[in-house]
Amino acid sequence: MHSTIGKTDIMENLKPFLTATEMSHVLKHALSIPNLINEDDTAIIWIDLTFLNNRIKQLKQAFPSSTTHTIALKANPLTSILHKMKALDVGIEVASFPEMYMAMAAGFEPEKIIFDSPSKTVSEIGFALKNDIHLNADSFTELERIDEILKTNSSKSIIGLRINPQVGSGSIKTTSVAGEISKFGVPITSNRLQLKEAFAKYKWLNAVHVHIGSQGCPVPLLIQGIKTVVDLVNEINDELNQQDVKRLISVVDIGGGLPVTYYQDEKVVSIQHFYDQLQSAIPELFSGKFRVITEFGRYIHANSGWVSSRVELVKREKKCAIAMIHVGADLLLRECYNPQDWHHEISVTDTFGNLKNNSDKNNYMIAGPLCFSGDVIARDLQLPVIEENDFILIHDTGAYTFSMWSRYNSRQMPKVIGYSDNGAHFEILKERESLQDVANFWS
Ligand SMILES: Cc1ncc(COP(=O)(O)O)c(C=O)c1O
Repeated sequence: MHSTIGKTDIMENLKPFLTATEMSHVLKHALSIPNLINEDDTAIIWIDLTFLNNRIKQLKQAFPSSTTHTIALKANPLTSILHKMKALDVGIEVASFPEMYMAMAAGFEPEKIIFDSPSKTVSEIGFALKNDIHLNADSFTELERIDEILKTNSSKSIIGLRINPQVGSGSIKTTSVAGEISKFGVPITSNRLQLKEAFAKYKWLNAVHVHIGSQGCPVPLLIQGIKTVVDLVNEINDELNQQDVKRLISVVDIGGGLPVTYYQDEKVVSIQHFYDQLQSAIPELFSGKFRVITEFGRYIHANSGWVSSRVELVKREKKCAIAMIHVGADLLLRECYNPQDWHHEISVTDTFGNLKNNSDKNNYMIAGPLCFSGDVIARDLQLPVIEENDFILIHDTGAYTFSMWSRYNSRQMPKVIGYSDNGAHFEILKERESLQDVANFWS
């Protein structure tokens, strides 16, 4: 640990996820507060702000204080959350021009915004440079474009190049980006010489960026990828030294990708464990030679969020009962389209929010409201008897769920409620979308 913290803090910080009992407690209390949940709020997205705060604290405590932590905006782009992140003194990683706009509007300082889009237009690059935003080029072509702009414009931007270390994919193909072939970054094996030439040529290039994947990448794979790039950085710096250029690569952005658990009985990887492994595999990373940047998203957000949805009705078939709820593939896009890769624990409460734990269990399918047969959140699940107006609780939905909100069937995105201290305080982070909001999207 790098800072002194109290024992209670450590205990709190080590909490890997929220339990069904905790969610039920919050829901019960919220249902008793007049006007917090309306009849129309058939589903609610909940964010435990205390848990979220603790994740940020834990991240900062695990790494040396000189580390710059930026949080991947794409995991949870709510404006109210961006303001809270800013107040917690972390930076923000953005992967598109609108995300950059949102980060700037939330007041993040330019050097704490990392612009990582894999496909930047020349004008987007120009905008980032003009505003001194840290920018990671994704290809040699982008380096050339940056160079063109810098011939006539000055900028204080830190500029890095994303390198694909080609260390292999994790267990989820669609979120692994460091395989042999990837649309991200410059592949290291076939471009070692060109990479060295680029760092020698572009005097403004002093940073590298590496990201291995998101979920499904074990810690050794993440570390192997970072080490592969740091080894190249050392080689390049040695050569730059020999050429007597007083310029070295001094910034290493190690990306995100720390996996979280979506299963209540799974072993949890702590950020402290990740840091300890990283430090022991690549000690020079934290020797003072480099400014290290991180870009975690899922680790910060995933386990802080959950969803409750009222059960509209239950269809009882011979082999299985189907509980129809009010979110599906609109909210849980990946989960519905690739159920083999993504999982959420499901719990059931009665209409007052009391957890149903009765031993009588039935086989259930939990289905969403969308007009296609793949709109199913869970199949073949043994759950307590579900009745109309009960609530289904979907666990660990804080990252890459509502940020991927799908417009199919034009459903309204639910209200988002934040709470702290186990529900002692509630705040509306985002109102439920109005019908007009939805109509505006299509007009
Ligand atoms: C470049 C980059 N950085 C950071 C992240 C965040 O990853 P995670 O949310 O798994 O920490 C991603 C997500 O895919 C990414 O593409």
